[in-house]
Amino acid sequence: MAHRPFRADAVSVRLSMSNREPLPPVKVRNSGPEPVAAPAPHVTARLDIPALLTRLTLEEKAQLLDGSDFWRTQPVERLGIPAIMLSDGPHGLRKQREGGDHLGLLDSVPATCFPPAAALASSWDTALLARVGEAIGRECRAERVSVVLGPGVNMKRSPLCGRNFEYYSEDPALAGELGAAFTEGVQSQGVGVSVKHFAANNQETDRMTVSAEVDARTLREIYLPAFETVVTRARPWTVMSSYNKVNGTYVAESRELLTGILREEWGFDGLVVSDWGGVSRRARSLTAGVDLEMPASGGAGTEDILEAVGSGRLSESDLDTAVARVLTLVDRASVAAGAAPSFDADAHHELAREAALAGAVLLKNDDGILPLDPAGGGRIAVIGEFARTPRFQGAGSSQVNPTRVVTALDALRTAVDGRREVVFAPGFEVESETADPALVAEAVRTATDADVAVLFLGLPPSYESEGYDRAHMDLPAHQLELLDAVAAANPRVVVVLSNGSAVCLTPWQERARAVLEGWLLGQAGGDALADLLLGVANPSGRLAETIPLRHEDTPAFGNFPGAFGRVHYGEGLLVGYRWYDTRRMPVAHPFGHGFSYTTFSYDGLDAVIRSDGAEPEVEVTVTVTNTGDRTGTETVQLYVTDPESTVLRPAQELRAFARVTLEPGGSSPVTLTLGRRAFAFWHEALERWVVEGGTFGLRVGASSRDIRVETAVTLTGDDAVLPLAPDSPAEEWLAHPSAGPWLRDAVGDEGFGAILFDPDSGQMMRAIPLRRLSRFPGFPLSEGQIDDAVIRFGETAV
Ligand code: BGC
Repeated sequence: MAHRPFRADAVSVRLSMSNREPLPPVKVRNSGPEPVAAPAPHVTARLDIPALLTRLTLEEKAQLLDGSDFWRTQPVERLGIPAIMLSDGPHGLRKQREGGDHLGLLDSVPATCFPPAAALASSWDTALLARVGEAIGRECRAERVSVVLGPGVNMKRSPLCGRNFEYYSEDPALAGELGAAFTEGVQSQGVGVSVKHFAANNQETDRMTVSAEVDARTLREIYLPAFETVVTRARPWTVMSSYNKVNGTYVAESRELLTGILREEWGFDGLVVSDWGGVSRRARSLTAGVDLEMPASGGAGTEDILEAVGSGRLSESDLDTAVARVLTLVDRASVAAGAAPSFDADAHHELAREAALAGAVLLKNDDGILPLDPAGGGRIAVIGEFARTPRFQGAGSSQVNPTRVVTALDALRTAVDGRREVVFAPGFEVESETADPALVAEAVRTATDADVAVLFLGLPPSYESEGYDRAHMDLPAHQLELLDAVAAANPRVVVVLSNGSAVCLTPWQERARAVLEGWLLGQAGGDALADLLLGVANPSGRLAETIPLRHEDTPAFGNFPGAFGRVHYGEGLLVGYRWYDTRRMPVAHPFGHGFSYTTFSYDGLDAVIRSDGAEPEVEVTVTVTNTGDRTGTETVQLYVTDPESTVLRPAQELRAFARVTLEPGGSSPVTLTLGRRAFAFWHEALERWVVEGGTFGLRVGASSRDIRVETAVTLTGDDAVLPLAPDSPAEEWLAHPSAGPWLRDAVGDEGFGAILFDPDSGQMMRAIPLRRLSRFPGFPLSEGQIDDAVIRFGETAV
């Protein structure tokens, strides 16, 4: 892909192709929510599903599997089956007013705009995610929305993915834990979620048609586990099938993914809804496992289903199963029906502020330039349009109409409250691609002689959006020129970033004393940034994605976004830090990194094997101490390594984490528990998870590159016996618990045996399939004996 320099005209072409508009200018309001729209009809009574299945006509059943408009299911009035409403999400409710599309073009009712997933994830705080989920659940109930379309737990395969701001992490364990907590929060309110976009939807380019070409192990270890955790732990009401294909098959037509893995392996008991407009062949998608097609297909879906039942392509029992799932969803929604409670917009704004505080990441802080003293020192020069016109969420279907928006400039002025002078210069126009000399000169004047220049830089809204990917990882060049000019006038520069996914910081970050990664922080982001800059709050965010040195270093570089309808996941398992750490590459800021205004020490690491064998359980305890002079929160990260393995394992993998808040001098033990999956890999030949016996490293630290204490445990592991075939290499026969001794006996120590069993020189011969060895003159076993042995020992193969 050509990494073209960003130009305004290029953007407008891309925007019109993707039918998206850049974010409209922020409307700053100080009032609470506007009057809400008339409530939608809602469920009041529980449904008798078996009885309904006998009373519904075939046509009514087929219709129930289709939407009635953009956002509602079909009602069947004669049987008292109401319609329920689904709406976007996920970082706030986006309930469109009547007649709405799904593209985010029309206005939606006011709702609290929490920080989008990229920032929420940087909190690493599952309890916070649950509380945000609860709040969104409350807002859904107030609007009589039964299902919120999120969380998005897709992996950040490339920083260029235009929708990364809607996803949590490059790490499946982190994304899974956060997604499960969010789901539990929403669903505690009697409102369902739709975990999306299942699966391997990791780019926006050709998102509706591209085939993610990904091997089975990578799918199992990287792209599916976050969904698996949410499904098995939090029991989401619905899962959304993604637009793309996986290995040539549309996900919406993949029985393997939607039924085999999701339902049969993971035990999913909810409903699968298509992504909006993600169905082409309705009957086929129904057989695969898509229960509900959204939005309304204009009758096409119903017709296809009826035709398929008529011609015998689709059984009525398959139809009934899907209908029962729709009715179960409608029924679940009825639990929270009745009077719609209103929500406390002020309390939710406060929660949005708390979430924003937790999500910003202090990437660097040379000489402790931050926090700024709110009462002492000279002028604070605030520079950059984003301080006045914040970018606090991304564009597309997730775009919330906020109940209010606080700018960092206002929040700083309010917090300083006249004790210091705060002066502002916009420095640049957000969507321009060239410097404005007058604005630069004004910014330089403002910075000169100030105590500190706080520079708000970031990505213009049009750079990242649902519907298209970024072309590069850079900030607009004119913003960096502004940084140069300001830093020349005043070296005490603090940069605050607004961006939905990683941007390149090198080499410009050397010109800043501190960098605060603000991501997109939601409607209360301004408040949170002021609190963090002034030390009212202590930064605790940690990177949920690596910030690489260069785009060229990223794992998917050269394999993103693919061509001719296919994208090859060539980096395999080595996504995110797994790539940089395994290849020992330098990065700008590692996964898990984030400074605090205090410091922490780690000691007394202890690992206890609570159980070994089939279900290993290891308890890891470490003592964390706040060694600085401010209360702060540390995120303890536990990485597991498997240094000796028959297959490639990433250098280390995050398997558990916990946050701990400590007062100065305070100390606390932190215990993390590792189960079987923390040590397992997906065995492609056996098609199951395998723990290979041996020693595993346990590395505990403050980031993937800041490991403070290490230990190891030795586990027995599984009996993973490969099935034998005549063409299995002699090596595999010898490794087999019963065929191995048989083969040793049969070959003996002389002749062939002397070579075959020699630890070094025998390697070449052990690689030969046994059947072919039998043809060598003098080999003591015939092909027939080998065939017999396959039958004899085959039964022991697992
Ligand atoms: C997006 C989904 C969204 C849906 C409804 C689709 O285009 O991919 O994430 O929930 O529209 O707006």
